[in-house]
Parts: sequence; C-alpha cells; structure tokens
Amino acid sequence: MNKTILVTGGLGYIGSHTVVELQKNAYNVVVVDDLSNSKKEVAERITAITGEPVKLYISDINDQDDLEALFELEAIDGVVHFAAFKSVGESVNEPFKYYANNIGGMIALQKVMNKHRVSSVVFSSSCTVYGDTKQSPIDETHPVVDAISPYGTTKIVCEQILKDLCKHSGVKGVILRYFNPVGAHPSARIGELPLGVPNNLVPYITQTAAGIREKLTVFGNDYNTPDGTNIRDYIHVVDLAKAHVKAMDYALTMDQEYDIFNLGTGKGHSVLEVIKAFEKVSGTDLPHVIGDRRTGDVEQIWADASKAENKLEWTCQYDMEDMMDTAWKWQQSLGAG
Ligand code: NAD
Ligand code: UD1
Repeated sequence: MNKTILVTGGLGYIGSHTVVELQKNAYNVVVVDDLSNSKKEVAERITAITGEPVKLYISDINDQDDLEALFELEAIDGVVHFAAFKSVGESVNEPFKYYANNIGGMIALQKVMNKHRVSSVVFSSSCTVYGDTKQSPIDETHPVVDAISPYGTTKIVCEQILKDLCKHSGVKGVILRYFNPVGAHPSARIGELPLGVPNNLVPYITQTAAGIREKLTVFGNDYNTPDGTNIRDYIHVVDLAKAHVKAMDYALTMDQEYDIFNLGTGKGHSVLEVIKAFEKVSGTDLPHVIGDRRTGDVEQIWADASKAENKLEWTCQYDMEDMMDTAWKWQQSLGAG
C-alpha cells in the first residue's frame, strides 16, 4: 500500500517541487497551504507535470480545528513540513509575525500529529542556524549559534522542539538544513514566485534580465574571497526536492530518534560567478554595479553535504549553469510582468 504524505506549504517554491518528486516516487500526497505566499493554480501545474491530481486543503496550519479535521479525513503516514514565512528582512521588522506562524505552526502540527499517532516528520531548516561562521565547508556537527534574525530564531527553536519530541515522545524527525535553493523545474511549469522586489540574488538576476529591474547591485566586492564577492552554496530546487523523498523514506523507517542533514552541492560560487553563469546560458549581458556590503551577510559559506550523500544515498544532478538556465526559462514563462 502506498504511504500518504501530508505536505504543509506544498504549493510554495520548494514544496511544489517536492510534491512532484513524492508523486513520482509513488507516494500519495495531501497538501495543506493557506496561499499566504502561493497560488492555487500551482496545484494544476503540478498535475500537468506528474499527471496526478493534488489533494489540496486550503487552510492555515495554525487553525487547530481545520488541521484536526484533515487528519480525521486522511490516513496520514508522514509529514513534510515546509509551511512558514521566510523573509529574513521582514522578520526583523515583524518578529512576532514570524514567531507566531513558524513556531506556532510547528506546535499546532505536532499536537495533531501526536494525537493521531503520526510520528514521521521531515522539517525544513536552514544553514542560517550556523550564523556568521568563518568555517567552510561546514558539517552538521558545527554548533548552532545565536540567530542572526528572528527568522533564524524560528528555525533554531523549531529544530529544538522537534528534537525534544523525538527524545521524549516517540517522534521520528529528519531536519534538513538547506543552503541556497535556486532554479526551477525543467518544464518551466513551477518555480519561485517572489512577491514585490526580490531580496534573493537569483530572482533579482532573472527579473533584471527580463527588464523588470534596471540593474543588479552586487553587495560588496571587498570580501576576503578570490574575486571579493560573497560565496554561497547554490543548490537546484529539484535536487533539493529529491532529497526530501529520500528523507521521507528514511523518516518512515529510522531507528534513531532524529537526524540532521545539510543539503547543498558542497561547492561554493561567488556572486560574480553566478552572474557569469547566467550571462552564458541566457546569452545576455546582465546590467550590474558594485554596491556597498549588505548588513548581516556572511562572507562565505558552503556545505559539507557528505552525510546526506552517504546516508540518504542522494547526489545532486544539476550544476550552476542548469540552475541559471531553468531559473531563466521560468522567468521567461512568467512574461514581463
Ligand atoms: P514559500 O513561501 O515559497 O513556501 C511556503 C508555503 O507555505 C507557501 O505556499 C505559503 O503559502 C505556505 N504557508 C505559510 N504559512 C502557512 C501556514 N501557517 N499554513 C499553511 N500554509 C502556510 O517558501 P519556500 O522557499 O518554499 O520555503 C519552504 C520552507 O523552506 C520554509 O520553511 C522556509 O523557511 C525553508 N527554507 C527556505 C529557503 C529558501 O531559500 N527558499 C532556505 C532555507 C529554508
Ligand atoms: C538569505 C538569508 C538566509 C536565507 C536565504 C534564502 C540573509 C543574511 N540570509 O541568504 O537566511 O535562508 O536568503 O531565503 O539574509 N546579493 C547581491 N545582490 C542582490 C541580492 C543578493 O549581491 O541583489 C548577494 C548577497 O550579498 C549574497 C548572495 O548574493 O552574497 C546571495 O544572497 P541571497 O540570495 O539573498 O541569499 P543569502 O544571503 O545567502
């Protein structure tokens, strides 16, 4: 019998790609999403890729009654928990909004899972839990430090809540710490939908190339890196999604209480290298200028992802040019608007 997986936030950027991969791997998928940062039509777009309908509940996971009703109706075997707010800058201005949704949502979900004896959960965390580290590549044993933003606090607190429940309440949790997810599905049917002016590098690049933004500002070229710009570990969202299938397989069968995995390619790319890769695959010159450093930016960070590679038997298939190529095709599919 195929297992049924609830994907919270399953219409969002990473969630939608993960629903595709779960369906392709014979899981039944149920999605709950409140559309706070996504659109209902994403469900149809997923179906256009996989040929399978998406069972969708439009609801806020903080609504305990709604969540309870969902668990009554569906025989859930495991949960992939994406639903959260994710804008670092917004979290600094509106911390309570982030604590309430991200930490509140985790608590609401765990309560209902506990009541219905659903123990397996895969949780979306972030390399932000490593803070302003000077060490790369960085592995999972690196200490979690003071958060650099309220968003980061929510990830640290949710990781801790999950670990407590795994130690004392029989929950089986897999914590995934993403580095920098970019790119889009090769079909260009799903991708990232940033609202307003993007904060992240790749949507800013593609919107600039599409003429929506005038030029990209590179945030500083005086860092202690080979070309002076920041280095990050960019990972294709489809590779990331596939890791969730492996993580869910593991969460459903694992003996140990919880486990933690970095998800990155293990390679760092500078901002200028990303721009160069984009220019190559798009055949355009990207208008860009060098500006001041952005407050809070870590100089360089990339993952030691060997634990996920070995234990989950997962490897990345897409390289930087694939990331830029799919991001650009997705942007073009959206038109100039
Ligand atoms: P996203 O905003 O595209 O997707 C999140 C989805 O959750 C959206 O569809 C939104 O409508 C939904 N949602 C939010 N709050 C909800 C609630 N209370 N109830 C129901 N649905 C709710 O974000 P994403 O980029 O796909 O990120 C998914 C997860 O991964 C988040 O937890 C995020 O913090 C984490 N993460 C993302 C990145 C990244 O760079 N995108 C990096 C590290 C970690
Ligand atoms: C940021 C968050 C991180 C979050 C991630 C995904 C911070 C400090 N970190 O990571 O917690 O998980 O987003 O949402 O906010 N850049 C430019 N010009 C731009 C935009 C970005 O030069 O217009 C540079 C940045 O300085 C950085 C790199 O591009 O060096 C990547 O930036 P971004 O995509 O915002 O991701 P992070 O800062 O790594």
